[in-house]
Amino acid sequence: MSETLDLDRLQTLLETNFVGRSVTYRTSVETTMAVAAEEAAAGAPEGAIVIAEEQTAGRGRMGRSWTSPTGGNLYFTLVLRPTLEQLRYLAVIAPLAVSLAIEETTSLSPRIKWPNDVLIGDRKVCGVLVDTNLTGDEVQNALIGIGINVNLNVMLYAEIREIATSLRTEFGEEVEREKVLATALNHIEELYKRLRAGEAVSVGWKQRLDTLGKHVKVTIAGGESQEGVAVDADSDGALIIRRDDGSHVRVEAGEVTLRDG
Ligand code: BTN
Repeated sequence: MSETLDLDRLQTLLETNFVGRSVTYRTSVETTMAVAAEEAAAGAPEGAIVIAEEQTAGRGRMGRSWTSPTGGNLYFTLVLRPTLEQLRYLAVIAPLAVSLAIEETTSLSPRIKWPNDVLIGDRKVCGVLVDTNLTGDEVQNALIGIGINVNLNVMLYAEIREIATSLRTEFGEEVEREKVLATALNHIEELYKRLRAGEAVSVGWKQRLDTLGKHVKVTIAGGESQEGVAVDADSDGALIIRRDDGSHVRVEAGEVTLRDG
């Protein structure tokens, strides 16, 4: 395994016009989200990415941390400048693009846990975090942070060993990071272009959604929760839950816990 990411190889594998064409590569950062925020504010072009081999303060959703040691994983943040209407679809596009990349670079069949965790079996292999920088109703930029456990031995990390896995563990051999990254970025650009053209982007996401049909509790930021059966998902990524009293509720963001084992 190459210790450092081969940026020339990455560019060779990219089929994009703008996504991944401007790259900031660091050996170690606190979080790629902060570096990308600085670069976006300083005028980085749309599609710019910040990649690090290690994050010392990797951020997860809902205020959690993201275990980010060196060891052949991918930690990167992509700068986009969508409209307000397009914003909510980014959390659909990103896990779908990563799922497609995993399917095309391994023989694995990932599933998506609502809203945007990518799973192999019931273990998490990728997480997505979207930070939005708004001025009033105007989107300055959206930062899509993606962490993929590619070649990490998750068993070495007590905090994730029960819930996470890596592509290498599941596939049984080392996986080329440049290929996974380039394929994911190729799909992100293709889906983002479709989004900008007003076309549907959620079909593949919904097909892979593992949460549908399950009895779930969705904890929403702030502590509120909704419980019931996840009966459907809207094209913009919202989950539709049928409560025990038969009423339906639409949940736009939150964290799913399975209630039926
Ligand atoms: C989650 O599932 O909780 C989201 C995890 C997102 C992790 C990525 S790694 C690259 C980027 N930088 C961070 O600090 N977090 C995201």
